[in-house]
Amino acid sequence: MRVSVVGTGHVGLTTAACLAHVGHEVLGVDDDSEKIAVVARGEVPFHEPGLTELVREGLDTGRLRVSSDPTEAAPHGDVVFVSVGTPTKESGEANLVQVERVARIVAGTLDGYTVVAEKSTVPVETGLWIRRTIERTARPGAEFDVASNPEFLQEGRAVQDTLEPDRVVVGANSDKAVERLREVYRPILDRAGCPFVVTDLATAELIKHASNAFLSTKISFINSVADLCERTGADVEAVAAAMGLDPRIGPSFLRAGIGFGGSCLPKDLRAFRYKAEQLGVDSGLLAEVERVNHQRVDAFVEKVRTVLWNLDDKRIALWGLAFKPDTDDLRHSPALEVARRLVAGGARVVAYDPVAVSAAKPVLPEVEFASDPYEAARGADCLAICTEWSVFATADLDRLRDEMANPVVVDGRNVFDPRALAEAGFTYASMGRTTASPSRV
Ligand code: UGA
Repeated sequence: MRVSVVGTGHVGLTTAACLAHVGHEVLGVDDDSEKIAVVARGEVPFHEPGLTELVREGLDTGRLRVSSDPTEAAPHGDVVFVSVGTPTKESGEANLVQVERVARIVAGTLDGYTVVAEKSTVPVETGLWIRRTIERTARPGAEFDVASNPEFLQEGRAVQDTLEPDRVVVGANSDKAVERLREVYRPILDRAGCPFVVTDLATAELIKHASNAFLSTKISFINSVADLCERTGADVEAVAAAMGLDPRIGPSFLRAGIGFGGSCLPKDLRAFRYKAEQLGVDSGLLAEVERVNHQRVDAFVEKVRTVLWNLDDKRIALWGLAFKPDTDDLRHSPALEVARRLVAGGARVVAYDPVAVSAAKPVLPEVEFASDPYEAARGADCLAICTEWSVFATADLDRLRDEMANPVVVDGRNVFDPRALAEAGFTYASMGRTTASPSRV
């Protein structure tokens, strides 16, 4: 089938490359010609494991083509996926100007029956507006349907999530549109054996926002429990593990830490809240989830301050800048805020991240950067861990201790086992667990 994907962000480019991989003729469109030039060379403008290989495969087989001309999308695609940015306005409202622009361009270039499928995360009722916009602009009699096809992939495992999803959700008010999207997904459904969930437009839109809001709620919930654990000597990791054994609760997204960041959960939570308020629905629960999340960085910086007494003139190594492992994405990364607060408190911060250093340099001008974790730790009074990269969990503890001026670790992602750190001679503070003191020096 011929498919167009407008937008080459994480979701757009992954969708385009994966749909080409399963056999469709895909056109990836972005009006940012520099981005398109990068992709046309077989490169991916962000870090995403396995994606470069799929993009190259698509370009080599000819099943993936790219263009910086959005007017090519509708003539090429039997389905046009709209996967452009929906950033947050100051008020929390989602900015849908790019979605509207694409709708207008598609409307002006429709060529035969086309399904316009929203993949960008958008507030409920956006599909309705896309349909109205196309109706207003398209020539009379133009044949199209609007569908919602929310995306649930996680950065860092985007390819796997797209080729082996837990579910594919399609919301549309026409059977023809549903069947066309089922055809697009058939190769993926055949191999993943996952449910194909069909709903109306508004329900599909809500499924996406509700899913991200619920994931955020789980994280803030366990972070509140972590605070209780710290005050009572309990261990949040054991609490979460035992809670997760209950199939009604499940083990995922119960990792306590410095909170959720990234381009999705914080933004979607705000937009969901904004929409609820606009519709006169109580959004107090969502406001609380957001409040708890904001406090995580405060709590973490306070922990560092507690182990160091004063931040002034202290050298602090910071491991991890990306908002989570396996990505170089710094958007809403709690690590950035931690770094800025430590510097504002008078500390000298030397940071290391396996892939995000070059992206971080321009946004953290007051921070120094190291090229490996041990160099960052050299002479440090404290090591602060902000992202749980697997390379950190397997660090050589004897070498780390020898590099540091003081063997003190404050772990915002519970990367280490407290007992192992204490045995290796560290003072070790983590989230929702008792601070461990060296059991040998
Ligand atoms: C999130 C959702 O998980 C995806 O399902 C969704 O498709 C995506 O947003 C989107 O809307 O596009 P993503 O932003 O890639 O995916 O990252 P997550 O893996 O959800 O992590 C978000 C943040 O939560 C990270 O900062 C992570 O460190 C934090 N987190 C996650 C925790 O603090 N604890 C956990 O238990 C899990």
